[in-house]
Amino acid sequence: MSLIYKKILLWVLCSSVANLLLYTFLSLSSTSPGGTSQARVRPRVLKPDGVFWKLSLDESALWNRLQHALDRAHNPILRNGTAGRAVPRLGGRCQPNPGVSTRVRDFNTLPRRVKDFVASMHCREYRLVVDQPGLCKGERPTLLLAIKSQVANFENRQAIRESWGRAGRIGNATVKRVFLLGRQDPGSGHFPDLTGLLELERRRHGDLLLWDFKDAFFNLTLKDVLFLKWLGRRCPGARYVFKGDDDVFLNTEALLGHLEGRSNESRDLFLGQVIRHAAPLRKVKQKYYVPESLYVGGYPAYVGGGGMVYSGDLALRLGRASDRVVLFPIDDVYMGMCLEKLGVSPTEHPGFRTFDISEGDRDNPCVYRSLVLVHRRTPGEIIRLWKRMHDPELKC
Ligand SMILES: *[C@@H]1O[C@H](CO)[C@@H](O)[C@H](O)[C@H]1NC(C)=O
Ligand SMILES: *[C@@H]1O[C@H](CO)[C@@H](O)[C@H](O)[C@H]1NC(C)=O
Ligand SMILES: *[C@@H]1O[C@H](CO)[C@@H](O)[C@H](O)[C@H]1NC(C)=O
Ligand SMILES: *[C@@H]1O[C@H](CO)[C@@H](O)[C@H](O)[C@H]1NC(C)=O
Repeated sequence: MSLIYKKILLWVLCSSVANLLLYTFLSLSSTSPGGTSQARVRPRVLKPDGVFWKLSLDESALWNRLQHALDRAHNPILRNGTAGRAVPRLGGRCQPNPGVSTRVRDFNTLPRRVKDFVASMHCREYRLVVDQPGLCKGERPTLLLAIKSQVANFENRQAIRESWGRAGRIGNATVKRVFLLGRQDPGSGHFPDLTGLLELERRRHGDLLLWDFKDAFFNLTLKDVLFLKWLGRRCPGARYVFKGDDDVFLNTEALLGHLEGRSNESRDLFLGQVIRHAAPLRKVKQKYYVPESLYVGGYPAYVGGGGMVYSGDLALRLGRASDRVVLFPIDDVYMGMCLEKLGVSPTEHPGFRTFDISEGDRDNPCVYRSLVLVHRRTPGEIIRLWKRMHDPELKC
């Protein structure tokens, strides 16, 4: 009897040790840091898939709370006769918001940029200080290039004008160009006064749009929203819009070739590098940090903000959909939210490399022929690459 008992005990002991070893091995191998770590890749937490707009009301996060109220206000059944009273106003000029620090539970411990965002997220009407009312008069652009820039980035803008951002006719297409700017002057932080230079540039090139809000990373969403509104007013006939950063290299000819080939199903086109199953980063030091008190939930599928292309028709609808989506500090995620509101999915294009290409290919102009967009190029690199790609001697 006792022998059998001992045998059983031994067996149990052995199998638990084996289990323990197996468990340790598995957990070690699953937490081993990615050996081929790429410094340029934006880290994203992976989350299981789910339908984005089926958000349950989470009272603990400000964005979710505001969006929930907005959804109810726009829903004729839920609104239920309380017309007007509970409808939050998204528009309106920015008035100081005294109750702001009570709207988020940990407001005082949040980093400055998040505080600034929370304090102004109810404002989205800013004066257009520099306009280009005549840009789209005359010929309807096949492609409008809308490039997010900052006042001080004169060099980036000039490099783009001299290379991939040339306006005019390319093949059968008409290309036009605008740069999207916010304020970056002594009135909005510690900046040198560049108004004189900017005025010179405006007169010379006629391709600047500048709004009266502070040009900050967490204000980039404002650029999207205000640009879409501007497009509806000033350039509703544009067939396609490219929107991207001023430090990318765009293969404009390849893009136009691609767009020409797909004229049929282009109404809902939203093209770029699609990022799926992403979720907010929760470490304060991260550039894309979004606290739990501001937002809970995963992100919808979205296109990396370095560069994206959408149809003019979709742009106008996105502009209207943005009225129903509370501002979110990360602009490409915000566009993904608006897309979901319209029930449109982004389209993946392997030629958009917003996370850059391998180091060995960086200087090879032939590689870029098949690419549409690469991220992080200096003005000098942009010019050089353009020249080499258009060198008649180039053999690939
Ligand atoms: C609509 O209002 C009535 C009376 O105010 C209330 O009893 C009912 O629950 C409301 N319905 C919804 C969906 O809120
Ligand atoms: C321009 O359009 C004409 C007629 O539609 C066509 O024959 C020609 O191939 C096009 N050129 C280019 C460069 O796409
Ligand atoms: C965005 O711009 C507004 C208006 O200039 C400003 O009040 C706010 O602080 C800015 N937001 C951020 C995050 O800097
Ligand atoms: C455009 O799409 C329609 C229906 O989806 C199809 O019947 C037609 O052949 C397509 N035309 C071209 C040129 O691809």
